Amino acid sequence: HFPVIAIDGPSASGKGTVAQKVANQLGFAYLDSGALYRLTALAAQRAGVLWTDEAAVAELAAKLDVVFVGESILLSGDDVSVEIRSELIGSGASQVAALPAVRVALLQRQRAFSEKEGLVADGRDMASVVFPHAQLKIFLSATPEVRAQRRFKQLLARNEPADLAVITADLQARDERDRLRSVAPLVQAADAYLLETSNLSIEAAVNQVLLWWRD
Ligand code: CDP
Repeated sequence: HFPVIAIDGPSASGKGTVAQKVANQLGFAYLDSGALYRLTALAAQRAGVLWTDEAAVAELAAKLDVVFVGESILLSGDDVSVEIRSELIGSGASQVAALPAVRVALLQRQRAFSEKEGLVADGRDMASVVFPHAQLKIFLSATPEVRAQRRFKQLLARNEPADLAVITADLQARDERDRLRSVAPLVQAADAYLLETSNLSIEAAVNQVLLWWRD
């Protein structure tokens, strides 16, 4: 078995950036599990399937034709790396992620990422459901204000319309859906280290993870 570092946390807590950098430093693969939920939401939208239709969305999730190449993500051969980051698809991802059959459909696909090499996996249920035996578990957090600012800057950097009040409300709605859903709710695993990043640089957060890993 190859080692796994599980990094969970709420939206815009910095998981993706930190996880990717840790993976690079250690020469591990990186799993962006949120991307799979985003791809599922996009595939449903393209197929004209409602995000609330559990059976139909789960079928699409099971059949997703996805290739991760470097920074790019191909869905049925189409580069959708930019499209899946929109706020609309983010909202769809959070809705389809609450459907139990969809989560089951994506489980094996996620575990397969650790079959050939060490892995850093980021998401909501990496430590609790997907990789319960992960060697290192981390729960990344930041205050709602800091997370809203981070998302705001991300959208501006992508030239997407950004309104801080709207983003704040949207993050709060997503947090609630992630924490209150019946399957794989977002919680800090009992054996996870808490990394509060509100006052930490990306560099400092990455170094803390590497310190725990080498411990
Ligand atoms: O960047 P952000 O945190 O907004 O989103 P993401 O990490 O790309 O995840 C998109 C959505 O997928 C989240 O709002 C979660 O509801 C869901 N998700 C999940 O349920 N389980 C995971 N392991 C990863 C994401």
